[in-house]
Amino acid sequence: MPFRLWSLMLMCLLMALAQSGPPLRALAEKRNFQIGAAVEPSLLLQEPEYARILAQEFNLVVAENVMKWGALQTSRGQYNFALADLLMDFAQKNRMAVRGHTLVWHQQLPRWMYGSFSPAEMEAILREHIQTVVGRYRGRIAYWDVVNEAVGDDAKLRPTPFEVLPDYLEKAFRLAREADPQAKLFYNDYGAEGLGPKSDAIYALLKGLKERGVPLDGVGFQVHVDLGFSPGAVRMAENLERFARLGLEIHITEMDVRLSGPGSRAERLEKQAQVYREVMRVCLGQPRCKAFTLWGFTDAHSWRSASEPLIFDADYKPKPAYLALQQALQRP
Ligand code: G3I
Repeated sequence: MPFRLWSLMLMCLLMALAQSGPPLRALAEKRNFQIGAAVEPSLLLQEPEYARILAQEFNLVVAENVMKWGALQTSRGQYNFALADLLMDFAQKNRMAVRGHTLVWHQQLPRWMYGSFSPAEMEAILREHIQTVVGRYRGRIAYWDVVNEAVGDDAKLRPTPFEVLPDYLEKAFRLAREADPQAKLFYNDYGAEGLGPKSDAIYALLKGLKERGVPLDGVGFQVHVDLGFSPGAVRMAENLERFARLGLEIHITEMDVRLSGPGSRAERLEKQAQVYREVMRVCLGQPRCKAFTLWGFTDAHSWRSASEPLIFDADYKPKPAYLALQQALQRP
């Protein structure tokens, strides 16, 4: 029998087993760990399968878009919480933790934020937004991505409308702490999973914040990667360890793995599974790594759907990557 046919049969068998195995959430809960997914709340109403699998497989949710400034405060001082509330209710009903995303980001800001503001005005805008949003969900959001992607790919702080306010990063954390003393406050970024100049810059930034007594509790590594990503090659475990030594909690926050590249489809699916497995192992091997969140969960709904980056296919069938996470979570 040709090798391709064998590997296809093996994959089908593994998939059948995966469907009957324990949900990821049950495995995560056994080890006091959180497995999460980014969610578009409107889909909870539109697609029963979306809601069913989400509640079955995950014990943490994060708003993919609906808690960003552009979604919440389209006009200055006017908030629309309908979809964010929907997500909160779903999470509560299904006993899921919630990650809030995000309070300071240079993207997806409403148009009015690009006006010209004095430092005092910007401070008032930031204060009002954080008090309103974090305050509304006080005690119900376990983790907030307070600052997202402040460091650019050139390892310098990015231009942002917030920068008119000196120390806007620090202020955002302090305001978030005031608004909800229980929530754990995170800095979140991409391209910093491994050792390298961007990760060095983030390390220096967070170390400085800690030294100045800024209320920072954790760091999120997004892990938007492709099949070429290897945690070993970028020394991810070593990188996580240095952040852990700052006393920070560590989360994988937005993982997805683009399927595009050379090789047969079966080979690429297998390689994708391997990347997920390896990142999960690195996280589980780091005592301070407490949560692993995917940026979506089905290829039917992803910011990069065309490259099938998630662990369920577009028909909600588990892919080899699902099985890889299931196995990694089952290992002692
Ligand atoms: O909601 C509007 C809709 O009303 C309109 O008709 C449609 C037309 O384009 O746009 C819709 O908004 C889009 C939104 O996603 C919701 O689907 C925006 O155009 C689009 O820009 C937005 O993209 C999101 C992106 O952040 C914004 O920069 C992606 O869905 C979201 O996955 C992505 O998430 C980011 C994280 O927040 C931070 N880390 C990187 C990650 C991936 O880029």
